[in-house]
Amino acid sequence: DGDVVRGDRFSGGPARGFLSSLSADERIFAADLAVDRAHVVMLAEQDIIEDETAGEILTALNVVEVDGHGSLPDGEDVHAAIETSVVQKVGDDGGKMHTARSRNDEVATCIRHRLRDDVLGVLDATLALRKALLEVASSHADTVMPGYTHLQPAQPTTVGHFLASYEQAVSRDTERLLDAYGRVNQCPLGSAAFAGTPFNVNRERVGELLGFDDVLDNSMDAASARDFLVETVAALANLGTTLSGVAEDLVIYSNRGFVELSDDYSSTSSIMPQKKNPDTLELVRAVAGDAHAGLSGLLATLKGLPRAYNRDLQRATPHAWDAIDAVTDAVEVTAGAVATATWNEDALVEASAEGFSTATGVADLLAMCGVPFRTAHELVATAGEANYDALDSAAKDVLGSPLAEYVPREEVESALDPETSVEMRDSHGGPASDAMTEALSDAEATLVIH
Ligand code: ARG
Repeated sequence: DGDVVRGDRFSGGPARGFLSSLSADERIFAADLAVDRAHVVMLAEQDIIEDETAGEILTALNVVEVDGHGSLPDGEDVHAAIETSVVQKVGDDGGKMHTARSRNDEVATCIRHRLRDDVLGVLDATLALRKALLEVASSHADTVMPGYTHLQPAQPTTVGHFLASYEQAVSRDTERLLDAYGRVNQCPLGSAAFAGTPFNVNRERVGELLGFDDVLDNSMDAASARDFLVETVAALANLGTTLSGVAEDLVIYSNRGFVELSDDYSSTSSIMPQKKNPDTLELVRAVAGDAHAGLSGLLATLKGLPRAYNRDLQRATPHAWDAIDAVTDAVEVTAGAVATATWNEDALVEASAEGFSTATGVADLLAMCGVPFRTAHELVATAGEANYDALDSAAKDVLGSPLAEYVPREEVESALDPETSVEMRDSHGGPASDAMTEALSDAEATLVIH
């Protein structure tokens, strides 16, 4: 209907609620105020609007801020609602706020502005988790525990080596998030709808006022791009996967009685009075799924979208918020659970010899004494148990002479001990105490916490 003005045409109708992102936009309320302020300051500096009008708009924005998101008038989104509120307060001149921009560049800027803080929040949490992992790793650097492959007893290691292994993984997750941060922190504002603007805007100035590292150049790309959400959520999904591994291992180790979570990170049963369950870790394990869901939700929403702005983008953003909230919580809970758990050294040492876990160490020892490793492997497999006599008779079978001809008995007996077995593995990154001392001090040096 040609007689209907734009505002009327879009003011209501049955799809109003479906169209509106106003409530979800609460997350970017503060960011939108910051973006409005920077834009208005730039417009005034560039003489695109009068200083007096800019002053009135800035004053109105202060009132909007104090009143809060909940007091905004109805609107299709937070950008429209804040603008309506400014116009209500300033009069028609309030409408100058939206000169030389569109909600398309505005929302993209708001998301980046808010996501920046959220990424810093999760980065902070990863630092605390790494610190907790390293602290417990150093206090249990010599606590021998069973190491598993295929969940079968494999070789003894230490609690310190196990926990430090996760610190390394979280440190790479941290790097990926930092890398994504660099591309999040780029300013799209001034791209307008996608095709730039005839006004003499100063995009660099707006970017600087908002603390962005740089501006995105091509205005069509700037308004359309959401790959920064994908890579951030991908880094979160990776981190979530790391956390799920920590959680799963600790769930298994609590089941074996190797570790006990503090009450703060446990739960009980409503019927079975004796129960102490590792529920927090089970939820951490599940959060990885939430992060992966966020990533596939985002990719599914973005795939096949044409340039430039399409309203589908409104549904992309919440996937990122959900993922960052879930993963941030999970990192914090994991850090707390790790920091407060108690390791049961007796149970660990006892279990560390299970399943002839020192077999590889004995084969290594024989190989060090000149027996080809494959032959040593066969000899130990033939013996099949952690016992000198069995090894000696296997030596007679496989090598045709007693074991003592190749290696002194005390050395074999010592290699059968899980603690010695760990100490033998002093290669770079291994669990032996010297290698661990070095690894822990290298890892601690990367963590500067003030
Ligand atoms: N609320 C929208 C979003 O979150 C931004 C508005 C752009 N709307 C539009 N019709 N061009 O993406």
